[in-house]
Amino acid sequence: MRSRTQVGIIGAGPAGLLLQHMLARHGVDSVLVENRSREYCEKRQRAGVLEHGTVELLKEIGLGDRMVAEGLTHSGIYLQFAGERHHLDFPSLTGGRTLTVYAQTEVVKDAIAVGHPIHFEVTDTAVRDIDTERPVLSFTDAGGVAHEVECDAIAGCDGFYGVSRPAMPALRVSERTYPFAWLGILATVPPSTDELIYAHSASGFAMHSMRSPEVSRLYIQVDPDEKIEDWPDERIWEQLQLRLGHPGWTLHEGPIAEKGITPMRSFVAEPMRSGRLFLAGDAAHIVPPTGAKGLNLAVADVKVLADALVRLLVEGKADLADAYSQTCLTRVWRSTWFSWYMTSMLHRFPADSFTSAAEAEFQERLQIAQLRQVTSSDAAARDLAENYAGWPLP
Ligand code: FAD
Ligand code: PHB
Repeated sequence: MRSRTQVGIIGAGPAGLLLQHMLARHGVDSVLVENRSREYCEKRQRAGVLEHGTVELLKEIGLGDRMVAEGLTHSGIYLQFAGERHHLDFPSLTGGRTLTVYAQTEVVKDAIAVGHPIHFEVTDTAVRDIDTERPVLSFTDAGGVAHEVECDAIAGCDGFYGVSRPAMPALRVSERTYPFAWLGILATVPPSTDELIYAHSASGFAMHSMRSPEVSRLYIQVDPDEKIEDWPDERIWEQLQLRLGHPGWTLHEGPIAEKGITPMRSFVAEPMRSGRLFLAGDAAHIVPPTGAKGLNLAVADVKVLADALVRLLVEGKADLADAYSQTCLTRVWRSTWFSWYMTSMLHRFPADSFTSAAEAEFQERLQIAQLRQVTSSDAAARDLAENYAGWPLP
């Protein structure tokens, strides 16, 4: 079946869904295709922290009501190391910026609920003719009907394993794979903390986050080749108690509703555009989750992309589209640096990352010195807080 639209969008993650909504607000029509089911997209556990700029954007585009009602406002984080726990107060360090804990699953649900047309459970997604003004998005819908959609532009919002990036000619790729992964759990127990805790410990990194006043989200660093089957609930709680434990504080345990292991990687592909195909979000770049940047970066990309496509397709001007990749990459690289910095400062690197025990010891001592600096120097704390709380959207 042949059809036509202005923008073909691949992927119903935060990037694709928010792009579709922002375009629709300017009268630009789109076709969005997703290879998973709606239920899967709405349940996939991922990020939880929204930057101030993301929160403001969601409100501005009319997707903020439930976030404002149910999201948890936070004024900072705790950094824990060497038996100490320090609070960084973001509003006083950043001129008033706060964070909101509102899960990616909820952002996705809110965007799908608007009711823009989405083809779920498609197969055979492909793009062609991206170097012309009429690129084609093809797919087979859930009923088995093959579609060819002629577009003015295509947005590849299909995540790290999508089809868009491989469809682009030679990209410049920068990459780092970290020698550890995160085991994350969702536990049905009220959070034991008022703010997120990032803990450096001799047994490895651990983190306490949350989803609601009744549900906690916790992570521990594990080896990248660990199998989730080898982590019964008792073993997970034992490691969380060991790594997060602090005098006078109790970590409350509860039933584990979900668990999974995520590898840690930094990845940037440049440029983020080829002809009329634009990449956004995880399709173009991945950061390790320690800086809570992945989702926020995806949102920043599609804000820039929506403005560029409206300008191109409504006003007939290509300037913002031509600048798209460079505009996004400045923020992407800043987030890539910050995520690497947080990851390097807080994780225990395995012994085979070093040539000797003394070198491993050296690295650990540097980490503690750095943590001490960000918790005792106002300038260093401000730097971390400004980066974590995020920069204004373009
Ligand atoms: P995605 O959310 O990946 O969405 C891409 C969509 O495209 C998916 O729905 C996918 O099914 C669809 N798709 C893929 N291929 C095709 C195709 N061929 N045809 C049609 N559709 C396709 N960030 C944090 O800040 N904190 C975290 O704790 C955290 N945990 C994470 C855990 C995991 C397992 C992963 C993968 C990421 C995590 N992230 C985390 C990162 C954050 O969730 C992502 O940065 C964010 O999801 C990016 O949004 P996106 O829309 O670009 O991509
Ligand atoms: C989460 O709540 O899932 C979360 C929070 C902060 C991070 C990573 C994940 O840095």
